[in-house]
Amino acid sequence: MQNRSMKMLGASAALVLGLTACSGGGAGSDEGDGGGDAAPEDMTVGVAMPTQTYERWLNDGASVEEGLEELGYTADLQFADDDIPTQQQQIDQMITQEYDALIIASIDGSALTSQLDAAEAAGIPVISYDRLLTNSENVDFYVTFDNFAVGQNQANALLYGLGVLDENFEPADDAPEETLNVELFAGSLDDNNARFFWDGAMDVLEPYIEDGTLAVPSGQTTIEQAATQRWEQETAQERMENLLTSDYRGEEELDGVLSPADPLSRGIINALRSAGMGDTIEDGLPIVTGQDAEIASVSLIAEGVQHSTIFKDTRNLADEAVKAADAFLNGEEPEANDTESYDNGSAVIPSFLLPVEMILEENYEEILVDSGFYTEEQVESGQQ
Ligand code: GAL
Repeated sequence: MQNRSMKMLGASAALVLGLTACSGGGAGSDEGDGGGDAAPEDMTVGVAMPTQTYERWLNDGASVEEGLEELGYTADLQFADDDIPTQQQQIDQMITQEYDALIIASIDGSALTSQLDAAEAAGIPVISYDRLLTNSENVDFYVTFDNFAVGQNQANALLYGLGVLDENFEPADDAPEETLNVELFAGSLDDNNARFFWDGAMDVLEPYIEDGTLAVPSGQTTIEQAATQRWEQETAQERMENLLTSDYRGEEELDGVLSPADPLSRGIINALRSAGMGDTIEDGLPIVTGQDAEIASVSLIAEGVQHSTIFKDTRNLADEAVKAADAFLNGEEPEANDTESYDNGSAVIPSFLLPVEMILEENYEEILVDSGFYTEEQVESGQQ
């Protein structure tokens, strides 16, 4: 199990190298799907993002907008406040205004089928951004990260933090002998990614639950039980508080929590700290995973509070989305690197998957600071 996920990490690293070689894409025009003979200056791309409450979507939106404008396109960037009708309306309007391409990060992946039909009828190419648009054939391309690998990395980070695996993610010589207690959190069920993260994590964790290395005292081991509607921090915090009250009253100790995203991790950590379970990992705080490398969480990792997160370089994702839009608008097909994994219920959508990286206290400087993603001051202050 570990070997497989480590191989995936290796493959991911190779992908990063391959990527930089093929960026760009001419801005000249041909008979593009949405663009005809128009120059980029005459074309508008609608960019629909789910919410401004998660740092990552703000960054994604800004990067996509900037990338499109660099190629000469006009970008119309809209955020939908995590409200489905708002997002539907925004996209309806983009279609009515005859935009030339759409880049969509959905709230509920299955709630936009009539918008996708309308886009198809109007000849507007649609790029599904990060989250898969489901139940429709009218999705032209999908750019995302290796979402299954995200879950595997989260689970490996948890096992490493618990001392079950060593720093090479091999079984640790000095692994604890007693059963370790963990609780499991998942994302929003209307987001296709949530299932990929969960499946990736359970692919790694299940054998350890089966052989008694890990136990889940609440018994809540299905994605439905673990889900966090709309990825809301308060919802995760409340569920953690409830689990602590109902399942951890007596002698029961909690050793770790699988959390699928940083805001949820911070909610969970708030609950653990308020229940007196320690302030830092050193003084007993359970191991908590995460995702997105949000600055507030990276700061907590540097302080030894949150154990880990997963870094997904959204600048690269934005780049891929812009390249895909540019290809369609030039009458070309964007290049996929996965044509199997993402069946949206109606069709398998050609996809471009980007690699992900596990972030821990011992590597955040190298991966996030030395690379210029964050400054040391930002990590110290916890603010971007
Ligand atoms: C997922 C996304 C994650 C995380 C989460 C909550 O779809 O892939 O990176 O941000 O949504 O917004």
